[in-house]
Amino acid sequence: MDQYVIKGGYPLQGEVEIGGAKNAALAILAAAIMTDETVTIDNLPNVRDINVLLQAIEEIGAKVERVDVHKVKINGSFIRDVSVDNEFIRKIRASYYLIGALLGKYRRAEVALPGGCDIGSRPIDLHIKGFKAMGASVDIAHGLVKAEAKELKGTHIYLDKVSVGATINIMMAAAMAEGKTVIENAAKEPHVVDVANFLSSMGANIRGAGTDVIRIVGVEKLHKTEYSIIPDQIEAGTFMFAAAATGGDVLVKNVIPKHLEATTAKLLEAGCEVEEFDDSVRVRSVGRLQHTQVTTLPYPGFPTDMQPQMAVVLGIAEGTSTVTESIFENRFRYVDELTRMGANIKVESNIAIINGVSRYTGARVNAPDLRAGAALVIAGMAAEGITVVDDIHYIERGYENFDGKLRGLGAKIEKVSSEKELQKFILKVS
Ligand code: UD1
Repeated sequence: MDQYVIKGGYPLQGEVEIGGAKNAALAILAAAIMTDETVTIDNLPNVRDINVLLQAIEEIGAKVERVDVHKVKINGSFIRDVSVDNEFIRKIRASYYLIGALLGKYRRAEVALPGGCDIGSRPIDLHIKGFKAMGASVDIAHGLVKAEAKELKGTHIYLDKVSVGATINIMMAAAMAEGKTVIENAAKEPHVVDVANFLSSMGANIRGAGTDVIRIVGVEKLHKTEYSIIPDQIEAGTFMFAAAATGGDVLVKNVIPKHLEATTAKLLEAGCEVEEFDDSVRVRSVGRLQHTQVTTLPYPGFPTDMQPQMAVVLGIAEGTSTVTESIFENRFRYVDELTRMGANIKVESNIAIINGVSRYTGARVNAPDLRAGAALVIAGMAAEGITVVDDIHYIERGYENFDGKLRGLGAKIEKVSSEKELQKFILKVS
């Protein structure tokens, strides 16, 4: 099993290039099969979840041509099957986007019920509510979601909770439904806007993405397009927090600073200097980090996907901080791991009370999920001594060349796959 081994104590310095947004890419790849013409998608992150989805699309008959690691051409005219199920797709959350895409195009879909990171209960009732409101029948049986519609009709849909997945999924189906759909209380995340832009570039009629009311007028056909995915705000934020935690100075390049405002605000409160440029941000950690309060909220609030990384920064900040998780109930599973590195954190319900310690100490820890895994790597880089992070397959779901990019910033980190390699690294760095 692969592990990251880290020798901490080296401030990150230099420049890092951010890739395309995983969560936008997953939806865009699913939407790409909605036309029979060839779609070219660029700035794809080369990460496990993306490759699993591409494989699933290929398995149902779509033609997938890898132009290079970040660029793909997809042709959905060869699709012969609307049933998507394999052992890998069951593990990724975004498999649900194939329901919206296939239902919109073929009026039928059969997709394995989504898995994903274990960060709490992750129902899809709102997606289903949307499809049903448009006239589809939806059943869940034997681990599959089966959706079918004789007629898919535009309608008014109010989302009881702000959901990125439900907003995008309903938007995709509505793009090819008959008539007008209005989604109220829609998610406003940058990737919702990116998917809407992508669909519009294929000829969809979508207004209001990025606000809480999205209006879609269905079209009969979508056409070819060439599209480049937006930068990944979560990958960017992760490097920003890594710079802060290690006392570093990092220029994070190829970002949209506007998408990072909540992260930037919290880093400023924690005492860091953040400079914004057109398409990059520089984070400098000056002096001791300071305590603050943070609550996760739908965009433009502080992202839940950045919560563990923020907590790692606050774990070594002066004073008592609180982190309130309001989106997913099981997102503090990294706290026990961090405690083994010396953190002083108490979780009460959905609030983590963090009493800052002066430093972390290296330990052997397990990545409990994607973002928490990245957060533990940050802790390892800030810690005294050697940290070994197990279960890094979670991290590889969403970060491309994470260790390589960190090494480029001066981190002493290596991916190892045996005890021998681990010992070799320890010998090298000590
Ligand atoms: C997406 C992201 C994930 C991110 C999350 C919130 C992908 C593949 N994943 O997940 O990384 O953490 O947005 O920004 O893009 N909910 C319901 N019923 C539903 C759907 C959601 O109750 O049908 C609830 C969820 O339990 C959660 C909240 O709504 O409490 C938000 O979830 P949602 O925005 O849908 O998250 P995902 O789309 O699953």
